[in-house]
Amino acid sequence: AATGKGNYRHFMEKELHEHPAVLGDTLRQYLDPKTLEVRLPRLPFDPARVPRLTISACGSAFLAGSVGRYWIEQLARLPVDADVASELRYRNPPLMEEGGAILVSQSGETADTMAALRLLKEGGQKVLSVVNVPESSMARESDGAVLTAAGPEIGVASTKAFTAQLAVMACLAIGFGRARRELSTLDEGRLTQALLEVPGNAALVLEKNEQIHELAAEVAKARDVLFLGRGSLYPIALEGALKLKEISYIHAEGYAAGEMKHGPIALIDSSVPVIALCPSGPLFEKTASNLQEAAARGGRIMALTDADGVERLSRFAERVIELPKVSEISAPILYAIPVQLLAYHVAVLKGTDVDQPRNLAKSVTVE
Ligand code: G6P
Repeated sequence: AATGKGNYRHFMEKELHEHPAVLGDTLRQYLDPKTLEVRLPRLPFDPARVPRLTISACGSAFLAGSVGRYWIEQLARLPVDADVASELRYRNPPLMEEGGAILVSQSGETADTMAALRLLKEGGQKVLSVVNVPESSMARESDGAVLTAAGPEIGVASTKAFTAQLAVMACLAIGFGRARRELSTLDEGRLTQALLEVPGNAALVLEKNEQIHELAAEVAKARDVLFLGRGSLYPIALEGALKLKEISYIHAEGYAAGEMKHGPIALIDSSVPVIALCPSGPLFEKTASNLQEAAARGGRIMALTDADGVERLSRFAERVIELPKVSEISAPILYAIPVQLLAYHVAVLKGTDVDQPRNLAKSVTVE
């Protein structure tokens, strides 16, 4: 049943294993497997004409929105501002006439995100929300809503709802790119095809469970952990750090790989595992050389990459976990899964309350 744990020890574990099904359900809502086209939902703004978008949310949902920003800017050449709702609501940002906004939320009830929604509407922005609960306040008050098909998520730390949010953002970005004539039919087909392969690849990523478990045994001994990524993998590095903090209570930081030399490199010694999200692709070599610098200072590099990155990273990394090789658009969705699994296993090893971490709530309806 949707509300039971089944054969799993924790809701989080069960929900982690629902990734392939949830991603399939979510993507099927917005992609046509026959024509390889994006079926954009009804939108409150015209993506071809909107001059600027504001993306806002809290917690993991904000990080999903942040990946969306990379995609929308890259694929649709549409300028995007992204800010956590608790900042946006008091920042009094200058909003553009005819501007649009996308709010992201699992529950659709988060107080700060609701406040951002009202502020944006008062500022004349047309607000679209990406929510998991169709009857939520956010779905009702927004000018339009798109749904993630994650089903009920019980674990406080988001898993399947997060990747479903990413899946929706990816579809929107492609659809906006088409509407703005930044993508050809061919590009759209190629990107859609890549996304349609995500559920199958998610199942392959889950098969790496044993290797992630071994990595977790190392991470569980650490006091501090650094997560590094570049481009659309940067918000996933932040998500990896957030998850680890939330459920294992280990201090972790996520950093843009290229920014490491401006501070966190001072922390690097042999006691700090550095988890690197490093799929092959245009930014691979940049990240690899940042990692090599960290390794040269005694840093213990634990790299997640694909077949094309293994050889290069094995020259200096303590551990390399090989994930399926996927196209650029799919990488952040798929790399989110091992960082969630890692946090899960570390928390189990540490004996914390995985589904109900201290001081946290699933839905934060107070400011
Ligand atoms: C809480 C949860 C987080 C979640 C955030 C936003 O802090 O512990 O896991 O990301 O709220 O929740 P929402 O329902 O708006 O996605």
